[in-house]
Amino acid sequence: MTGDAPTVVLGGTGAMGSRVVRRILATGTGDVRVLTRAPLSPKARTLAELSDRVRLVPGDLDDSVSLEVVMAGAARAFCNTDFFATGSVPGEIRQGRAALEAARAAGLDRVVWSSLDSAAGLTGGAVPVPHYDSKAAVAAWIAAHRADEAMRLVDDGFFTHHVSILTTAPYFENFTDKLSPIRRSLRDGRDGLHFALPLGDGRYPQIALDDIAWFVDHMLRHWQSWGARDLAVVGDSLTGREIAATFEEITGVACEYLDLKLDVLAASMPEVGHDYAALAAFLQRRDVFALDRDVAVLRRMHPGLQTFRDWLVADGATAVLDSARR
Ligand SMILES: NC(=O)c1ccc[n+]([C@@H]2O[C@H](COP(=O)([O-])OP(=O)(O)OC[C@H]3O[C@@H](n4cnc5c(N)ncnc54)[C@H](OP(=O)(O)O)[C@@H]3O)[C@@H](O)[C@H]2O)c1
Repeated sequence: MTGDAPTVVLGGTGAMGSRVVRRILATGTGDVRVLTRAPLSPKARTLAELSDRVRLVPGDLDDSVSLEVVMAGAARAFCNTDFFATGSVPGEIRQGRAALEAARAAGLDRVVWSSLDSAAGLTGGAVPVPHYDSKAAVAAWIAAHRADEAMRLVDDGFFTHHVSILTTAPYFENFTDKLSPIRRSLRDGRDGLHFALPLGDGRYPQIALDDIAWFVDHMLRHWQSWGARDLAVVGDSLTGREIAATFEEITGVACEYLDLKLDVLAASMPEVGHDYAALAAFLQRRDVFALDRDVAVLRRMHPGLQTFRDWLVADGATAVLDSARR
């Protein structure tokens, strides 16, 4: 059933979704449908120019008719909703549930929900992270449906057999925009790059966008073959000092780490600074790489899974250098 039937990518014009679209185009033969609010945007047009198998579907996650249209006749879907588009936990939960309900109504065979760790859940309620916990709330809603299907002995339950949750991690590519380093004199007097990161002595779990896309495509093509319904991915985990030292080693450019304080981060961005500061507090408190991922299984599934060093050597270092601010 899944062979040549279309695959839907929600968030397909975005940083994550566009890599998924490219990967699916490379490994499959069916059409890839991308729901977009702006089919004439440069990102949408770039995607459409990749292949005549890319179908842009004008619409909105908040418009149930466009969700029906994009799902009709499709076999598979990847859903990456964007918390920051609404900046609202109920808003993202509403969009996620609507997307999954539309996929169920259309009888899709394989749906991957792009999630993030439940920060509140993993810290005993101490550190809620709005943009993490809203995706995790949809994952919990999926789990509740699975439990309900189990209780009612539903044969071939949609949420049990046709939905998988992929928990991702921050992208290495953030170092080319949100986290790009600053060119300045370092404490030891050398000119170089300053990585100001809110990590304290904690570790930053990350992954390459192409590896997220690899796992999504693998999940859609080799359905629940990895020993579970769901999967949590990551590529590497480094301290701030290790990030700066690795970048210096690969590029030869002097680098240093500055521990960005959480209150400074919170005050640095209107409306979402406190959300990013909460994420940093969560990552300082919880080593998700060590505790919440099975990296050995991930590497067995995907031997090409990139470390930060691999990603820098491939082409990341050039992109980070190009993005460095003054
Ligand atoms: N940055 C990270 O390291 C990271 C890591 C893991 C997860 N995430 C999560 O990924 C999400 C953002 O995805 P991204 O990084 O790909 O961001 P992005 O590049 O800003 O893309 C956002 C995507 O969401 C789509 N979108 C937003 N509102 C929509 C709506 N109402 N209806 C239909 N489509 C809508 C946009 O489509 P159009 O504009 O074409 O309509 C676009 O495709 C966030 O929730 C973030 O928490 C980020």
